[in-house]
Amino acid sequence: MDKHEAMLRELNLFPLWHERGAAEPPAAEVAEHHSDSVPAASSQPLPIAAPPAAEPGIAKSVAVDSENPLSSMGWATLKTTVRECTACPLRAGCTQTVFGVGDERANWLFVGEGPGADEDARGEPFVGQAGKLLDNMLLVMQLKRGQKVYIANIVKCRPPGNRAPESGEISSCLPYLQRQIELLQPKIIVALGKTAANALLGCDATLASLRGTPHDYHGIPLVITYHPAYLLRSPLEKAKAWQDLQQAIGLMNSAADKNS
Ligand code: URA
Repeated sequence: MDKHEAMLRELNLFPLWHERGAAEPPAAEVAEHHSDSVPAASSQPLPIAAPPAAEPGIAKSVAVDSENPLSSMGWATLKTTVRECTACPLRAGCTQTVFGVGDERANWLFVGEGPGADEDARGEPFVGQAGKLLDNMLLVMQLKRGQKVYIANIVKCRPPGNRAPESGEISSCLPYLQRQIELLQPKIIVALGKTAANALLGCDATLASLRGTPHDYHGIPLVITYHPAYLLRSPLEKAKAWQDLQQAIGLMNSAADKNS
């Protein structure tokens, strides 16, 4: 088994199969896939979903304004500010803040929920089992952590017992991610799981209702997919996650076409 086949197997994508009821791939795509290369996603523009209703209590955006001290911060000051943050109770229960990792000129931003035990210990997002799967998802997309890819979380401190962050914790921490996004200016954002999707969109919706159609985060296409930890528990959903990732590749390709 070669390395590429091993990656496809990891994502339940080998041999190539499709969600029941999903459109069959064009013959060329199948041939390409069977010839051991990653299928090129369509570069046709996709309709963008209408924004879901905002949830009170979760800030939808931080506009760049003179009253927001973060809006003038560069990477170094932002990192120090996050490291020293005690704005919510999470900091008292974690080992260290987990700022985010990767290429500060990334085209791709992947956003998870919050650090788990491994991330809390290492100070880097997605380094445990879910991170291993995320790295393999990136490989199948022909991407690599740190190379035009940035990975961050909605909250920078580990919630106790790996629970989901609460809305007050999200509201406290989200401005840091928003500033990271302003500094990065990624071409696309991939939200991993419901918490990331809802926090970025400022809504409270199910993942099922949000995935499938790309959204918009302040002019940046936002694709929503399953959290890798969920995929580890529900491997049959990996095929749907792959559809989402192909959608993201298609959006990136169409952005590149527009700029060429
Ligand atoms: N899950 C997340 O959402 N983020 C991490 O960094 C690790 C696990």
